[in-house]
Formats: sequence, structure tokens, C-alpha cells
Amino acid sequence: MSPPPRSSVWIAFSIFLLLHLSQSHSFYLPGSYPHKYLIGDSLFVKVNSLTSIDTEMPFGYYSLPFCRPLEGIKDSAENLGELLMGDRIENSPYRFRMFTNESDILLCRTDPLSIADLDLLKKRIDEMYQVNVLLENLPAIRYTSKDDLALQWTGFPVGVRVGESYFIFNHLKFTVLVHKYEEPATIAAASATSATASGAVSDAPGYMVVGFEVVPCSFQHDTQSIKNLKMYEKYPTNIQCEPTTVAMALKDKQRLVFTYEVSFVERDIHWPSRWDAYLKMEGAKVHWFSILNSLMLIAFLAGIVLVIFLRTVRRDLTRHEELDKEAQAQMNEELSGWKLVVGDVFRVPGNATLLCVMVGDGVQILGMAVVTILFAALGFMSPASRGALITGMLFFYLVLGIAAGYAAVRIWKTIKGGNHTGWMSVSWKVACFFPGITFLILTTLNFLLWGSHSTGAIPFSLFIILILLWFCISVPLTFVGGYLGAKAPHVELPVRTNQIPREIPPQKYPSWLLVLGAGTLPFGTLFIELFFIMSSLWMGRVYYVFGFLFIVFIFMVVVCAEVSLVLTYMHLCVEDWKWWWKSFFSSGSVAIYIFLYYLNYLVFDLESLSGPVSATLYLGYSLFIAVAIMLATGTVGFLSSFCFSSDTEYWCALLLSKLEIASMVHVCFERPSSAAISWDGYLFHVGSLASSMDMLGELKDNIKNLDDEEALDFDPDQDDFLDDAVADILTVKTRRLPHADQIEDIVIQDV
Ligand SMILES: *[C@@H]1O[C@H](CO)[C@@H](O)[C@H](O)[C@H]1NC(C)=O
Repeated sequence: MSPPPRSSVWIAFSIFLLLHLSQSHSFYLPGSYPHKYLIGDSLFVKVNSLTSIDTEMPFGYYSLPFCRPLEGIKDSAENLGELLMGDRIENSPYRFRMFTNESDILLCRTDPLSIADLDLLKKRIDEMYQVNVLLENLPAIRYTSKDDLALQWTGFPVGVRVGESYFIFNHLKFTVLVHKYEEPATIAAASATSATASGAVSDAPGYMVVGFEVVPCSFQHDTQSIKNLKMYEKYPTNIQCEPTTVAMALKDKQRLVFTYEVSFVERDIHWPSRWDAYLKMEGAKVHWFSILNSLMLIAFLAGIVLVIFLRTVRRDLTRHEELDKEAQAQMNEELSGWKLVVGDVFRVPGNATLLCVMVGDGVQILGMAVVTILFAALGFMSPASRGALITGMLFFYLVLGIAAGYAAVRIWKTIKGGNHTGWMSVSWKVACFFPGITFLILTTLNFLLWGSHSTGAIPFSLFIILILLWFCISVPLTFVGGYLGAKAPHVELPVRTNQIPREIPPQKYPSWLLVLGAGTLPFGTLFIELFFIMSSLWMGRVYYVFGFLFIVFIFMVVVCAEVSLVLTYMHLCVEDWKWWWKSFFSSGSVAIYIFLYYLNYLVFDLESLSGPVSATLYLGYSLFIAVAIMLATGTVGFLSSFCFSSDTEYWCALLLSKLEIASMVHVCFERPSSAAISWDGYLFHVGSLASSMDMLGELKDNIKNLDDEEALDFDPDQDDFLDDAVADILTVKTRRLPHADQIEDIVIQDV
């Protein structure tokens, strides 16, 4: 059952190594090394799509009449994840020189606004669109305060509406936080020795960017006075940036003037911790609260599990204690529920293939989530490059196709009693089930986005790439996994299934009600964290607390397993042996609550979500997430129940055999068992039985070897009695040989 110790040591070692590496300052993943800038080196700001918490539809930055770079608009390097997230990162005319404060820089003067441009700007302001600027992959942070609560945002609004007039933010005050460049430790160590000889060659102070902040202002420029100025020339007068006042109202036929200023501030932020600013959200306490909440729930559930087991064991023991000889014969009929259905527990469930397919896909999603969150929590891919998270998830998902195929086929083979014919079709279904649903949802949403010309639509070429990835990586790997699963030995089920299915007695409550209700418990551990994930997904806040997420994730897995165990046990107790699907949905039903929560979020928190397209987008993504969560949590529940059912039989056999010995002792020697029911008491009986047997054997031998005279000293009746007793014990023992064999092993282990 437990993994071999070597592998657990290995895992612990790897985790230690990962932790160690992520802490040491010299280790960065390729592509995440700090860039060293000398004073005066150029820094280029990039822009991302305009986003809105209202519509969820991103649009390109240059769809609005902003200043364009002199060298033309170029796509900056992108990865799959950025594209999938609807990110379009482009260059921008904003540029700084390292460690050089500059102010009042003119960016450009636009052409007079056309009616169409004006309307578009007003529309985007009404829809609360945000401008997202990036420096060295760091999104600009904007600090605001509301009711004494300091809030932190990424990006800044296009403009604001005050009464009937619209104001645009046309002056940006950037602050770049820099830190003296540190040589990576390995190089530093090497250069430390040579530094004495070669002198301070690399002493030219280099800096790296560790933070990026922006304050947007609306400033009424004097368009006439700058008629002849070019980009990056100095604005003639001093621009006072007042974040609390707005001045640049939008009017027809008006020219917009954009300016900016930048100051560099040295901060003691090290390169690996530059993302901590994004972490310092107002909610750290709430995250702890959510963890506490989950812990309490887990303890509560674990308590229930314990009480159930204790109660059953106690009840069974008491019952056996009270049995007399005649009642022993009826013992089998008086067994409690879960022993009665032993012959039906592993009866092949309805839609067995679908169950295996769903579990296979669940394993794949679960594995992806574990690996992704772990990597993100260790700081490997969260912020280093935008979209890395999605790319990573996709990559892990594709690779884990092998696990999906393996799990699905192996369970399928087990259900079919070791027959693996048809594993190809199971693998094929595994490879198509969840990705198929995903593609269906994605395509529908994409058509909607294409219809509304948003940059959020996945480009057609990317669509083809995704399909190719699916068929060239995921599908073959799933087949490889399926092949391995078919070759692997199936799980030996502890009991044979009876020919005739046992009738399920009428239940007090419909069992599906219980199954649906059970989902509330895992939901209880999740919902606080879900709120943060939601607001980061849809409100443009930053979510980088993957450490928390990982802990919450583990808690959720534990709760799902516990809930499913309790429910399966309860069902077996009332002789309802159809547990396969129920165990899947007792934890999987959390998805229903999550979906309802999303709906509630849509209705109450995103009430301003404008238009049916946005609402459909939101619903589509929510549905997608809910399906993924259902598969993952359902798999956790199913697998734990599966292990439990195979194990219960083992525990039950163990318990029964111990009880049998105890009652044997009781019957043979008519010695009252100790009143206190405890394992120790039974072990004592078992021990005394063994020694009594030895003693009796010796006695009998002695009696046979005695000469007649000496034999006279013995009461012949007693001799008979001894013979009978030994015969009794031996018959009992032979009759129960299969169990008795097991017992001896167990007893030895226990002692
Ligand atoms: C830039 O200005 C900030 C304050 O606005 C100041 O703290 C910093 O020292 C200045 N940096 C340089 C290089 O002058």
C-alpha cells in the first residue's frame, strides 16, 4: 500500500532540492535572469491589451488614438499562454534611460479627434477599460486608497467620466524601482578571487529593475505652444501631476497631447523578491483565515470518520461478546450492513467505461494542477513571463496524458476482472472526453469574440496549433499510458462478486440527495480562495499567492477523500452497494456549488458586466472550470473510496478472525472473556490459546507415555476431557483454517 521508502526519500530529497534552489539567489530559470542596465541605458515600456472588468473582452492598445512608436508597432515576443489569455504585448513609445530622472517629456500630439474616435474613447471609458503597461515583464502597479484602505491595481484607466464630460489620462508619472545589480552567486564567487588581481573591472554600477509604478494624471495641455516640438522633446512648462484632479476633457475635433515623467528610486528589493509587491495584497489575513477554516473542516470530518469506525468496531465486538454457542451459528446473518454486501461491492457499475474515462481525465487534471501550483508556488513560472502559467499548464496537461491513459485502463481492467481487451477504445475516449468538451466551449466562445472583433479571440493559427498539439502529443501519450495500464497487473479485488445482485433495501433518504449535499463540504474549504482567484481572473488584480493555493489545494483533496469515504461507508452500511458513481459525485458535486458561486458572482459582483457576449464568455469559462473541477474532485473521491473498499474487506477479515479466536477461547475453556473490550484483551486471549494448546499437547503426550500404575493416579475422565478439548480445538482450527492462518501472521505483527 505505502510507497516504498526509497521513493519517498527520493521525493523528499527532490522537494528539498527545489526549495533550496528557489531560495538561493543565484538560481534562475533560463529567461528569468536579471538584466543588467548601466546608467543611461535605454529601457522600453511595452503595452498589453486594454482590459476591462466589465466586458472581459480585451482590445488592442492601438485601437485607441494613443501615440504610436516612431519605429512602428511590433509584436513583442509572445508565447502560447499569452495568446490564450488574450494578451497582445506590443512596443510603445515610452522609453526611459536607466537611473536618469526626466520630467515634462512630450510624447506626441495626435491628429484632431474624429467623431468615431471620440465615440470609441467615450465607450471605452464607460466600459472601464484599463491600460496595461509593462517594464521588464513587471506590470505597472497603481496605488489607490478608498475608505482608508490602500488598494493595489495593475494598470490604469483610460479615463474617467465626471457628470456628462469625459476626461482622459494623458500624463503618466512613472516610478521605476531599481536595485544595484548583483552578480549571480556562482559568478560572484569566482570573480571574488580574481578581483584582487585584476582590480575592480566590473565596478561600473549596473542596475536592475525591481519595481514599476504609475500614477495617471489628466492635464490640460496648451496644444498651440508645442506645435513644433518633436517626440521626447521637453514640454515648455512644468507639468504638475495631480492624481486627484482631472483637466483634459474630451471634445470633438480636439488634439490630444500625451506626456510623461519618470523617476528612478533605489530600493532594497532583491531580484527574486521583486514580485512580492504584487503579493502584498490586502488579503493575507483572509488567506490565513481560509486555511484555518479548511483545517477546522478537515478535523471535523476526520472526527466523523473516526467516530463511525469506532462505533462499528465497538458494536461488532459487543455483539460477539454477547453471543453464546447457538447464536454463533447465526452470526453470519447478524452481521452489520457492510459485511452483507461483500459479494456485491465490486459488481461492475453501470457505464463503467464512462467512469474510467472520467477518472482518467480527472487524474490528468489533478496532476496538472499539482505540478503547476507547485511550480508556481516555488516561483518558477508565476511571474517571470506573462502567460508562462498557462503555457505550463498546457504543457503539463499534454504530458500527463500518459497518466490519464494508465489510470483509466488499469481501473477498467480491474473492473473487468483482469481482462484488458478493448483498452484502445478506452484510451481513445480518455484522450477525447475532456479536450473535446474544452474545444467545444472554446470554439463557441471564440466565434462570439470573432464576431465582436476583440483581441481576446484565439487566432485561427493558434487554434490549429492547439489541435495539432492535442493529436500529436496528448493522444499518443494517452495511448502509451493505456498500453502500460493494460500491461500492468490489475488490482486484485479481495472478494468475488456473487452471481445474483442483492436487493437494495428501501432507503430513508434518496441517496442522491446525500451525494449532492456532500459537495458543500469541499466547497467550504475552497470558496474563500475561489473568491481571490475569481477577482484576479476577472477584475485585473494580481493573484500570486500560489503557496496559499497549494495548501488550500491539499486541504481540498483531503476533504474530498474524507467526504467520499464517509458517504461510501454510509451507503454500504445501509446495504446500498452501488457506490462507484456515488463516490465519484459525492466529492465531484462540489462543482455544482462552484458553478452556482460563479453565477452569484456574475449577478452580484459583476453586475455591470455589459452585454450578452460578456456574460456568455463568463459563463463559458465558468462552465469549463466547473467541469474540470468536477473531474478532479470526483477522481479524488472515487480513488479514495476504491482503496477503502478494497481495504475494508481486509480490515473486516482481520477483525472477524480475531473475534473468532476470541470466541474459540471462550467456547473451549468456558472462561469468561474480560469485560473490558479492547484489542489487548483479545490479543491476550489469542496468546493464552496458543500456550494452552502447547500445554494440552504436552499433557497428552505425557499421558500416553505413562505406565499403567502411574496412570492410575490420573482420573480417566480427565483424560477423556483433555482429548475432547484438544479435538475440539483442532476441529475448530481446521474448520477456520483460512482465517486462522491469516491470524497468526497478524498476531505476530501486532505483538
Ligand atoms: C529621482 O527622483 C527621486 C525623487 O523624485 C529621487 O529620490 C531620486 O534620487 C532621483 N534619482 C536620480 C538618479 O536623480
